[in-house]
Amino acid sequence: MSTRVAVVTGGGSGIGRATCARLAADGFALAVLDLDGDAAATAAGPQGLARAVDVADAAAVDAAFAAVTGRFGRVDVLVNNAGISGSPEATTCHETPVAEWDRVHAVNVRGPFLCARAALPTMLAQGSGHVITVASVAGQVAFPGRCAYTASKGAALMLARSIAADYAAAGIRSNAVCPGFVRTPMTQWRLDVPALRERVEAAIPTGRVAEPDDIADAIAVLASGRMGYMTGAALVVDGGWTVL
Ligand SMILES: NC(=O)c1ccc[n+]([C@@H]2O[C@H](COP(=O)([O-])OP(=O)(O)OC[C@H]3O[C@@H](n4cnc5c(N)ncnc54)[C@H](O)[C@@H]3O)[C@@H](O)[C@H]2O)c1
Repeated sequence: MSTRVAVVTGGGSGIGRATCARLAADGFALAVLDLDGDAAATAAGPQGLARAVDVADAAAVDAAFAAVTGRFGRVDVLVNNAGISGSPEATTCHETPVAEWDRVHAVNVRGPFLCARAALPTMLAQGSGHVITVASVAGQVAFPGRCAYTASKGAALMLARSIAADYAAAGIRSNAVCPGFVRTPMTQWRLDVPALRERVEAAIPTGRVAEPDDIADAIAVLASGRMGYMTGAALVVDGGWTVL
């Protein structure tokens, strides 16, 4: 069997970085697309392909996927992980600057759309593939004061479900992973404030926030193909946060 190929967006940091390490250990060849080309190169390793790409840029995404298929000839797994939470100005609906709404949706919704759109023709030709979209529990329950992020993750989850419905018969799977609170550069500032950290941890039944590896584990299980009957699902990995 030929080496399986995984494309990871936002692989330069946090959850994406941990996912690259886990998928490489599982034998995947890696292509890493990230705004930060140096971080992408480190995550991809010497055998991998790295591109400095804004996932919201259609031409850049198409060129990156052309490079991936040119190098590896296939795409078995796409991990739509690149995402942003928006600036501190992106709060409640009436206080969110329009430009913040647009940028959050460009990265968190248009990005996964463009990347899936670029990967699916290759997956269709193979008769197999898995689109794994890193959404959030914020796609299922509202995060107070984070209107743009919450709406974008709901849309990302439904994009994953739309792809699941449209491509299941072609052998392609599409699932979302919905992390709760994960210790990454996106969230570290909150954990650095003792009062905020205590409040976050007190709300999580397991008593701790997730590490990036906790989410990479879930992504790796999906990428393995062992859960092949599951498609269109939201795999919640939140330490029980949203069961309360
Ligand atoms: N950290 C959490 O608590 C948490 C919880 C739920 C969901 N998530 C989601 O997980 C994903 C990864 O988050 P993280 O916490 O690891 O964040 P992070 O900030 O540590 O890493 C994000 C990576 O994406 C890259 N990136 C950002 N915008 C990009 C763009 N336009 N094009 C290409 N690359 C881009 C960044 O350069 C960075 O390497 C995001 O989609 C985020 O919404 C995170």
